[in-house]
Amino acid sequence: MMVSDSFYCTLWMLSLFGQYLGEDLQFSGPVYGAVGGSVVFAPDNPPSTSIDIVQWNFGSTVILTGSPDSPTIDPAYRDRVSFDINTIALELWNLILGDSGIYRLTVITSAGDSLTGETSLQLFENITNVRVIGPEGSLIEGESSANFSSEGTGIITSVQWMKDNSPLSPSNNIIFSSDHRSVSISPVQRSDSGEYQCTYTNPASSQTAKPVRLIINYGPEDVSVKGEDVVDLGVRVSLSCSANSEPAASFSWKFNETDTNVTTDTFTINETDFTHSGDYICTASNNVTKRNASHKHALLVKERGGGLSSGAIAGIVIGVLVAVVGICGLTVYLTKTKKIPKLNQQQKGQASEAAQSRQETKARGDGVIPGKMSEHIYENDKHENEYENDMYENVKLDYSRRPRAPTPPQVSNPPPVRR
Ligand SMILES: *[C@@H]1O[C@H](CO)[C@@H](O)[C@H](O)[C@H]1NC(C)=O
Ligand SMILES: *[C@@H]1O[C@H](CO)[C@@H](O)[C@H](O)[C@H]1NC(C)=O
Ligand SMILES: *[C@@H]1O[C@H](CO)[C@@H](O)[C@H](O)[C@H]1NC(C)=O
Ligand SMILES: *[C@@H]1O[C@H](CO)[C@@H](O)[C@H](O)[C@H]1NC(C)=O
Ligand SMILES: *[C@@H]1O[C@H](CO)[C@@H](O)[C@H](O)[C@H]1NC(C)=O
Ligand SMILES: *[C@@H]1O[C@H](CO)[C@@H](O)[C@H](O)[C@H]1NC(C)=O
Ligand SMILES: *[C@@H]1O[C@H](CO)[C@@H](O)[C@H](O)[C@H]1NC(C)=O
Repeated sequence: MMVSDSFYCTLWMLSLFGQYLGEDLQFSGPVYGAVGGSVVFAPDNPPSTSIDIVQWNFGSTVILTGSPDSPTIDPAYRDRVSFDINTIALELWNLILGDSGIYRLTVITSAGDSLTGETSLQLFENITNVRVIGPEGSLIEGESSANFSSEGTGIITSVQWMKDNSPLSPSNNIIFSSDHRSVSISPVQRSDSGEYQCTYTNPASSQTAKPVRLIINYGPEDVSVKGEDVVDLGVRVSLSCSANSEPAASFSWKFNETDTNVTTDTFTINETDFTHSGDYICTASNNVTKRNASHKHALLVKERGGGLSSGAIAGIVIGVLVAVVGICGLTVYLTKTKKIPKLNQQQKGQASEAAQSRQETKARGDGVIPGKMSEHIYENDKHENEYENDMYENVKLDYSRRPRAPTPPQVSNPPPVRR
């Protein structure tokens, strides 16, 4: 009675404190297996001394026992276990649900120590047939909601949803059901477009569904027309319309509120004439959202040569000629009346007058651009210069300068007018 009591007491103490005593065999955590799969039970701390006897038990069943180099294997396990003599690990394959339970390892070392440890195995059926069911029909941004549900066979311990291969998290408009098997997105935004899939997981297996693509329709918006505003006569012009839209917008063009038959994103005029000046309105339409949006582009066709008509050019030429003749006449008159002795002298005289004028100009402030400065300097002296300047000036010349062009003396022609 006393012997038996102390034996059981020792066993109880071993089982209670065994794992802290150091000589017992430790296993990390329970093992999960998939039906049909395999597992390995390996102690974390196999004994460092040599082993005389090894034994693996499953409950009361002895799976294998005997000397490590030739253990005896239970016939029921013969074709689905293997033993590793170095790690004293047991590998079990062709797992069935009935393999779930406690596995115990006992070794007797050559020093006579008896070591023992146990681990547990829990089996899961593989998860199969996981699929995602996406919403049907067109989804419109800000209006529609989208529900994804999922299904699959096998016990699952977690569901992970992914969008474009990144984990999907709940947000203002994304709500998961309590079991995480479905997701509701309401209302949908364009940023919700993408590929959705989910992964069902249990400790032994996981399966990921085929992705389902979600397309959120929106727009058109940000309609814009690219192209020139002012073009020469007789050139080719392309106006190109774009819009932000899903699906891609279709385009139509109006000219001055009149329908054209152009339904491409580009409106082309092969050769401009004056009737092409006006407003070009591009309308982008989205046949899913049933919305449209427009943008107006004004085009001005002007004559070649800086925007001056041939009449204006002729006027300028005549004006210049008249001015030249006028100055020649004035010079001759001045020379003859000895107000300016010689042509050389005249230039000197002009130079000193100009110098005075230049100083005034400078005094008024630096940063006067050279062109304007020269205008001040030669004011009233070289009319033709001003006209020449004008003729070669760019169209964008400030109109306000025009009135300053002095009317040549004794000339009845009005100064040429730019069109
Ligand atoms: C379950 O999955 C495991 C690992 O993927 C595999 O080895 C095993 O054969 C599968 N079982 C069945 C029944 O398909
Ligand atoms: C999506 O699911 C929610 C809640 O389950 C439901 O109220 C809503 O009508 C569903 N929407 C669609 C488009 O099926
Ligand atoms: C557009 O096409 C219709 C018939 O296809 C034609 O009657 C109409 O004159 C065309 N409009 C323009 C501006 O070319
Ligand atoms: C413009 O030119 C293209 C070829 O360059 C031609 O196919 C097209 O018919 C022309 N369009 C008009 C309106 O003349
Ligand atoms: C189109 O409209 C513009 C501005 O309203 C006008 O100047 C032009 O003459 C018009 N063109 C045609 C062909 O109607
Ligand atoms: C929208 O237009 C595209 C072609 O531009 C066509 O393929 C599609 O069927 C249309 N969709 C609807 C809903 O009309
Ligand atoms: C744009 O939408 C309005 C209102 O829905 C419609 O009356 C018009 O015909 C549409 N325009 C085009 C070019 O589709």
